[in-house]
Amino acid sequence: MPPVLKTLERVLSKAGLGSRTEARKWIGAGRVRVNGKKVQTPDHWVDPARDKVTFDGNPVRQSEKIYLLLYKPKGYLTTYKDPEGRPTVYDLIRDLKAWVAPVGRLDLDTSGLLILTNDNQFAERLANPDYKAPKTYQVKASTRLSDEQLDRLRRGVPLSDGPTRPALVARLRDSGKYTHLEITITEGRNRQVRRMLEAVDSKALKLVRTAIGPIRIGDLAIGKWRKLTAAEVACFAAHKPRRGGS
Ligand code: URA
Repeated sequence: MPPVLKTLERVLSKAGLGSRTEARKWIGAGRVRVNGKKVQTPDHWVDPARDKVTFDGNPVRQSEKIYLLLYKPKGYLTTYKDPEGRPTVYDLIRDLKAWVAPVGRLDLDTSGLLILTNDNQFAERLANPDYKAPKTYQVKASTRLSDEQLDRLRRGVPLSDGPTRPALVARLRDSGKYTHLEITITEGRNRQVRRMLEAVDSKALKLVRTAIGPIRIGDLAIGKWRKLTAAEVACFAAHKPRRGGS
């Protein structure tokens, strides 16, 4: 079998040491050696099975795959760093030694289930709209919604980037002038749920993602994380794209 070569930058990021950008900086700074020789080219080809890569003199090993479920609070960004210094989800996983990246995004004002992983294929399956991974949200609408409005959300509403696919929508309760509803969509467009509510002349006052497919946030406390179980990971490992229909 021919060797499976990877760039030096990728070997470092895959080992869970940091992002690709950070890896490039370390390589450029001369902190990385391949078979004892300093290499300062991030695109240098490495055979991870044979070549000995060290970072600051310590051997670099391919990391195990990590899958986290974080209960993102409102007010936290789904990015690594914010130029304005606002809190990010990385502030909540400081005790984790490995590098993981969020799968898709949740708006600043949205809370709930966020998956972070270093498994790019798993992330791609979860985020790719062709796979139609169902995402469930609980919404507090700014108005009392009629059955007709809920039906429009179910059938699909026109948005500036095209009509939405059919969705599962359930009224949870009406309280005062508000309706609380649960909505499950199989796309992940930018601010999609908020825009859907606006398309039926209402607004999402509160938006919480509670599930992705069979993975549920359960009673995890806000701001806390847990590892996905092997069964939860397997749901998406075996998940094939469903084209057409909904
Ligand atoms: N829909 C939204 O409007 N916002 C999110 O963060 C996710 C889905």
